[in-house]
Amino acid sequence: MNIEIPPGLTELLQGYTVEVLRHRPSDLLGFAADYFARLRDARDQEEGGGGTRKVVSFDGEPMQTESNGEEEPDRGDEDDDYDFEPAVINRYNRRVSVCAEAFNPDEEEEDTEQKIVHPKTDEQRCRLQEACKDILLFKNLDQEQLSQVLDAMFERKVTPQEHVIDQGDDGDNFYVIERGTYDIVVAKDGQSRCVGCYDNHGSFGELALMYNTPRAATIIATTEGALWGLDRVTFRRIILKNNAKKRKTYELFIESVPLLKSLEASERMKIVDVIGEKVYQDGERIISQGDKADCFYIVETGEVKILIKSKTVTSTEVNQEVEIARCQRGQYFGELALVTNKPRAASAYAVGEVKCLVMDVQAFERLLGPCMDIMKRNITHYEEQLVAMFGSSMDLRDPGI
Ligand code: CMP
Ligand code: CMP
Repeated sequence: MNIEIPPGLTELLQGYTVEVLRHRPSDLLGFAADYFARLRDARDQEEGGGGTRKVVSFDGEPMQTESNGEEEPDRGDEDDDYDFEPAVINRYNRRVSVCAEAFNPDEEEEDTEQKIVHPKTDEQRCRLQEACKDILLFKNLDQEQLSQVLDAMFERKVTPQEHVIDQGDDGDNFYVIERGTYDIVVAKDGQSRCVGCYDNHGSFGELALMYNTPRAATIIATTEGALWGLDRVTFRRIILKNNAKKRKTYELFIESVPLLKSLEASERMKIVDVIGEKVYQDGERIISQGDKADCFYIVETGEVKILIKSKTVTSTEVNQEVEIARCQRGQYFGELALVTNKPRAASAYAVGEVKCLVMDVQAFERLLGPCMDIMKRNITHYEEQLVAMFGSSMDLRDPGI
């Protein structure tokens, strides 16, 4: 049987559970009646637009009403009032206040928080695993962390023109795409511009959760679609903790990548936050010439060879792949198709075991703008190299090569 959890139910019960754990009332039923009555009053007051902010508390203690059960960050003097914003009973609840805190793993609470579980049928679990298998933010998680993330994810169906995220809002969930297409719209200086789209795979909504900032873009479904949401608390508890480890692991390596030298240290750290590590075995194809492109790669260990099938070679050699380059630690590949918006110009294969740091196209465009000149210069070198090898000019912007 397929049981759908109504929107808001989990958060509602979670809020109640947190209060019970804090107050340990002897009369659970009476406490529940009181809790929910106060919550309803707060909501009614809010909806009635009464103007005054309703404060609900038990015994002078702040009542936990965040939809996600997360403690508010330190708000200085404000905390003394034990004020809180009443919960709006809605899964897509917005965070009430946003603090531009930088994440500091050492200050994060121990891993004692309540684990969120949305029960799933086997069929749902299969679809979820398929949707998440290439999600870069999940790549560095260990088995236990990944299974907690998958347990906590919930399904959300969307209809065309639905705004999944609105720029400027507070971050509630991170989303993995199961299906559907979505426009990414960024408003700047009073002008809205579609800066990209997601086509049936990928993920979005991590930035506001990672950096405690307002949503940086509006995400609009352009078809009917299905998403898997991950609540803010679980995201921060698992993904951010893992990112802190990633920063330590990759900091020195990322600093040594020649392409990224011109970036500020903080910009390089943002790259680390969104990359995922992928491992390839000897001979495994990493990129296929002619494929649609959605990732950019930096070689972390091992060697990658680049092969090209060229129309310009003699007829007997047509479809033969010719090696044109090798990439070692610190070198990158897979940028050309992202820069030119064309299919992959060549194929890439692992030589021995290879580890690559991988970034999706949205992060590539958002974070590597300052490195674009270097990449464009190198693309000119590719063209020169191909002329030298094949004797005639090849337009790398022509997908028919
Ligand atoms: P977040 O800011 O939480 O919500 C909007 C999301 O859009 C953002 O996280 C990213 O995941 C995604 N996004 C994709 N491209 C961009 C972009 N160019 N600028 C900002 N956000 C983007
Ligand atoms: P992309 O076209 O996205 O995928 C194949 C990659 O091979 C390409 O990006 C470049 O990063 C890399 N490459 C290295 N040398 C060449 C070359 N001479 N011509 C085309 N691609 C090259």
